[in-house]
Amino acid sequence: MTLIVGHRGASAYRPENTLPSFELAVEQGADAVELDVHLTTDGQLAVIHDPTLERTTSATGSVAAITMREIKKADAGATFAAPDGSHPYRGKRLKVPTLPEVLAWLPAGIGLVVEIKAREAVDATVEALRDSAVRAADAVTVISFDEASLDRVRELDPELPTGYLLVPFDKVERGLTYATEHGHLGVYPWEGDLGLDPTPFAAQAQAYGRRLACYVVNDPDRMLQLAAGGLWGFVTDVPDVARAALGPRPQAT
Ligand code: G3P
Ligand code: CA
Repeated sequence: MTLIVGHRGASAYRPENTLPSFELAVEQGADAVELDVHLTTDGQLAVIHDPTLERTTSATGSVAAITMREIKKADAGATFAAPDGSHPYRGKRLKVPTLPEVLAWLPAGIGLVVEIKAREAVDATVEALRDSAVRAADAVTVISFDEASLDRVRELDPELPTGYLLVPFDKVERGLTYATEHGHLGVYPWEGDLGLDPTPFAAQAQAYGRRLACYVVNDPDRMLQLAAGGLWGFVTDVPDVARAALGPRPQAT
């Protein structure tokens, strides 16, 4: 089975990295949700992609320079634009969530992929996940482009699964070697538009004992090709499209 991971939730339809976006991803049949974390000046884990607030909220400035209390005043639905150019979530009281808030919400049976966007966030992330239900269910992975961040995760908690983000897809073998040497279970290449047959890469990953998951895949034909090729999973902005392409989630037994 190839896992469908909702990229920043169901970010094609709702403001990325917000609880409504994560909720919709689950409603649409995602197996897991992906989110990004930064550390605030008062040591809280803000679920936000950019190091600054302006692209996704009504506020400006650096996440690392202000408190979570201040960030909570920002409208996290302010900038999301619908296809017709309107802003349907503006003024609807959407907030930037914290990682503990997402952990408290996450339904049983749904996985979590936490992307560390700032090295300063590593220690708090490992601590937040330590006693979480998703960790107990062995359904969480911590991923990063930053090799030092991943090494630090493994130093703090060697049992916590990690995933190495790399670009692009045709460098997978290098990523598999690196991940194996450093103990990272997952390898997440950027899918790009290379259109490469994934089968040999999936076979290589299996030979290395690693999980291969591409990001970001929104085309249903490509999703089918990746699933047929034996990929462990893929990250998508459109979990509904993915679920329609791959068929229903198997029922939990
Ligand atoms: O899931 C990996 C993907 O999210 C990495 O890219 O920029 O969306 O965080 P980005
Ligand atoms: Ca991400």
